[in-house]
Amino acid sequence: MTERKSDPERDDSERAFFGRRKGHKLRQHQAELIDHLLPRLALDIAGEAPANAGEIFAPATDDVRLEIGFGGGEHLAAEAQNFPATGFIGCEPYVNGMAKILAQIEAGNIGNIRLFAGDAAELLAWLPQASLSRIDLIHPDPWPKRRHWKRRFVQDRTIAAMARVLKAGGEFRFVCDIDDYCAWTLSHLSRSPEFQWLAERADDFRRPWDGYTMTRYGRKAAREGRKAAYLRFRRV
Ligand SMILES: C[S@@+](CC[C@H](N)C(=O)[O-])C[C@H]1O[C@@H](n2cnc3c(N)ncnc32)[C@H](O)[C@@H]1O
Repeated sequence: MTERKSDPERDDSERAFFGRRKGHKLRQHQAELIDHLLPRLALDIAGEAPANAGEIFAPATDDVRLEIGFGGGEHLAAEAQNFPATGFIGCEPYVNGMAKILAQIEAGNIGNIRLFAGDAAELLAWLPQASLSRIDLIHPDPWPKRRHWKRRFVQDRTIAAMARVLKAGGEFRFVCDIDDYCAWTLSHLSRSPEFQWLAERADDFRRPWDGYTMTRYGRKAAREGRKAAYLRFRRV
């Protein structure tokens, strides 16, 4: 994770995005996937969005989910294979992550993933209203220092953007091993009238939901002794 220097000339939406676009050099086949497979699967948000997000998949579907910051793509690839009738949009600005999901799509012949290699805030603004059934944000960059909290993905404006694109009854799911970011997310979501926290028992949030696929950052947190929280919010 590298930081961009703060630039007072940048507007709020730009300042909110501090992802890393490039890491280590791609292997030859990864570079080929970026050059040849990514253009076939990438969403072009310069144009107008279709009236129904399900139309970006073939066959079209009524059930579309988004994973923000999928990293190595372990969770995204597993969900897409487990739910073949659902369309999945994966958003990740980090090119090495993009190369990894492309390799999994190729190896598993996965046909129900579309990709966006940029800032999820821009993708949310492009997507049609009430078009998604679920948004997953799994181990987002934690930005633990107080002066960097404004860089966290969960903010009032991104909550409003997610509320706009989620269908009524849809869900925002958040997984995080940084207690302070979990508390931050709970307090921000609880002041939004558009979301309701789905916790049935006191320790619900300590257990992953059925079928959850652990990610690289989840395994790292477990190795380092940090317990993740698994929060689910329903779009009311
Ligand atoms: C800590 S990593 C977690 C990756 C993966 N979800 C996991 O659990 O292993 C956070 C990821 O979010 C991505 N990211 C950061 N800001 C983002 C944004 N505004 N939109 C989309 N992805 C973003 C980063 O590039 C990074 O890959």
